[in-house]
Amino acid sequence: MGRLDNKIALVTGAGAGLGRAIAALFVREGAHVFVADIDGDEASETAAALAGEGGGATALQADVTVQDDVDRALAAIDTAFGRLDVLVNNAGVTRRGDFRHLSDEEWHAVMDVNVTAVVRCSRDALPLLRKAGSASIVNLSSIMERRHIRQLSPYSTSKAAVAGLSRSMAVEYAAYGVRVNYLCPGYVETALTDRVLRNPAIRKALLMQTPMGRFGEPEDIAKAALFLASDDSAYITGSGLTVDGGMSVAL
Ligand SMILES: NC(=O)c1ccc[n+]([C@@H]2O[C@H](COP(=O)([O-])OP(=O)(O)OC[C@H]3O[C@@H](n4cnc5c(N)ncnc54)[C@H](O)[C@@H]3O)[C@@H](O)[C@H]2O)c1
Repeated sequence: MGRLDNKIALVTGAGAGLGRAIAALFVREGAHVFVADIDGDEASETAAALAGEGGGATALQADVTVQDDVDRALAAIDTAFGRLDVLVNNAGVTRRGDFRHLSDEEWHAVMDVNVTAVVRCSRDALPLLRKAGSASIVNLSSIMERRHIRQLSPYSTSKAAVAGLSRSMAVEYAAYGVRVNYLCPGYVETALTDRVLRNPAIRKALLMQTPMGRFGEPEDIAKAALFLASDDSAYITGSGLTVDGGMSVAL
């Protein structure tokens, strides 16, 4: 018995990193997962690696900042299953730089993927989520939503917006049987954090700030996403779950 048996899930940005780990765990727990990514090859590779496991997977090339791509992805799910039980808004990007030099282009590049696309996917998936009867949205925020990290102003702001949006959506969507929660991961080694974590001095400093003394594994985040996606969290909505080895509570 899997914890997501017979569930249909859409995970954005699932071609790599945390999204890939979330998709893999969901499939192993019985869900059929639509693996959506701007990089169609990565999406196909992830789905192919999951073929024959659990509930199976379907690859979708989709840029969440493009309305037509999101429409196409949701239409594919509607045609195949007619409902959506779980939406994980995972796709995310960052740009580094001092706030005073931030260009409009850099600002929009981060906000378009990290915030506007979460609005778009959550809004447009609602008819399919309602058809599930009881559904769950899991949004990827970050511990950065309440910390200032140098050169990450747009990213931190976008993740605070995801937390706020999740709470607003939770209140409105409860009437439709849709729970909305968000995850706040600490540092996990993926392409997103590679530039920072490959610096030995920064690695050491960050590990010293982490009471558990290690970075997160993608599976640590996937397990938390599974909890919020599954009926184990049936009475939880509008909540943020921090998964950071204690980093955000340590001084
Ligand atoms: N890695 C961490 O330490 C960490 C910590 C906190 C929060 N997060 C959040 O978790 C999420 C996943 O991060 P990650 O570390 O796996 O990143 P990653 O860069 O390893 O993977 C992100 C994936 O999203 C895809 N993507 C990017 N833009 C897209 C778009 N417009 N449409 C569709 N797909 C797109 C990429 O192709 C990639 O496959 C992000 O929202 C990130 O902000 C990550």
